Amino acid sequence: MRITLGVTGGVAAYKAAELVRRLQQDNFTVQVVMTRAAREFITPLTFAALSGQKVITDLFAGDSQDANLESAIEHIAVAQRTDLLLVAPATADILAKFARGIADDFLTTLYLASTAPVVVAPAMNVNMWNHAATQENLKLLRDRGVAIVAPDEGYLACGMTGPGRLAGQEEILAAVRQVLRTKRDLEAETILITAGPTREDLDPVRYLTNRSSGKMGYAVAEAAARRGAKVILVSGPTALETPEGVTRFDVRSAEEMYAAVLAHFPKCSSAVFAAAVADYRPAISALQKIKRGKGSITLELQPTVDILSMVAREKKAFRLIVGFAAETENVAQNARKKLESKNADLIVANDVTAQGAGFDVDTNIITMFFADGRDVTLPKLPKAELAQRILDELLRMRAAQEKNGLELAAGFHATRKEFSH
Ligand code: CTP
Repeated sequence: MRITLGVTGGVAAYKAAELVRRLQQDNFTVQVVMTRAAREFITPLTFAALSGQKVITDLFAGDSQDANLESAIEHIAVAQRTDLLLVAPATADILAKFARGIADDFLTTLYLASTAPVVVAPAMNVNMWNHAATQENLKLLRDRGVAIVAPDEGYLACGMTGPGRLAGQEEILAAVRQVLRTKRDLEAETILITAGPTREDLDPVRYLTNRSSGKMGYAVAEAAARRGAKVILVSGPTALETPEGVTRFDVRSAEEMYAAVLAHFPKCSSAVFAAAVADYRPAISALQKIKRGKGSITLELQPTVDILSMVAREKKAFRLIVGFAAETENVAQNARKKLESKNADLIVANDVTAQGAGFDVDTNIITMFFADGRDVTLPKLPKAELAQRILDELLRMRAAQEKNGLELAAGFHATRKEFSH
């Protein structure tokens, strides 16, 4: 998960350095954004060294036209890939700007451009904190859903005592965790996910496979589990770790994957088929290593089972099926064809030849094709973010389905109770 940490200009700015560490220990990737005033208190270099990422400073930094453009686009990119915006310490000034929608630097622009949840940990002089203007701004922000980590009382740098000290690291972290945990909107779902490549053995030492890394499927599994779904991951061979809260079954060939899917699908309410399943396997898998000969050899291949099609054919009305389509040409046309022929509710298509898309990269560029004729194209996004978008659509389809008449909804609930968890 990605957190953007906004650091504003206060004596407590140095405490944000420790906060970067603590967030990293919690497995968050931290992108630091500093205001001009913050840089009077601590250097960007400190944060760059700690976070391992370039620190973003000004929106209009650099003196060339290109630098401006790059920076302007960057804030949108940062806004899109942020799971949470945390501002610590937050000055009275930044609270005022957030409250009133003033966007005159990178951080304030990011605040407006981002739809991610926001946590602010204010730190300031006690009179500034108590001032009606600050309190009014805090109220505006709180009403808007911004989580506020109230400052501690104590001896302040200005020599006064009272509320104004930046809250403790643990308190700030607790607020972050709480905000990220609130979106548990998939608790009613049990989702089967296939991921990774398959290996089709030629002989005891050789196999046919493909370039899938499993990243997309694992990202969906991780996001779904975080959002409260029960997740069963059927995975081909990958180098990836099992996401927290996910039950994983390892398989090797398309045949094994099919068997595992058949075994687990009955207890699932939806399925996401992200695996790059081999379409063919060697007709004969030799028991001994095939020896080198003089002439050329011909491999006879036979088709594997189309797991998605087999499963979707039998699906009950309430089950939602998401498939992927890896294409190298005519993406829309091929994806629509797959949507129909495979009886899926949604096909997530990508052109695997595009830059920043497809196999073994952390980003992807996708278009979602729906059974109702709609399609949605997304810009290049991290796979973790795409996973969230796909799950959002799953929920949307679920809601539409439930709205589609009481009978189906009643039947759905009754059936789903059978495999309640
Ligand atoms: N799929 C599957 N079992 C297979 C082949 C594909 O379950 N034997 C699933 C994939 O997980 C994916 C979808 O079907 O969700 C489409 O996979 P893709 O490889 O793009 O399509 P194919 O059906 O194999 O068609 P083609 O290779 O001709 O493009």
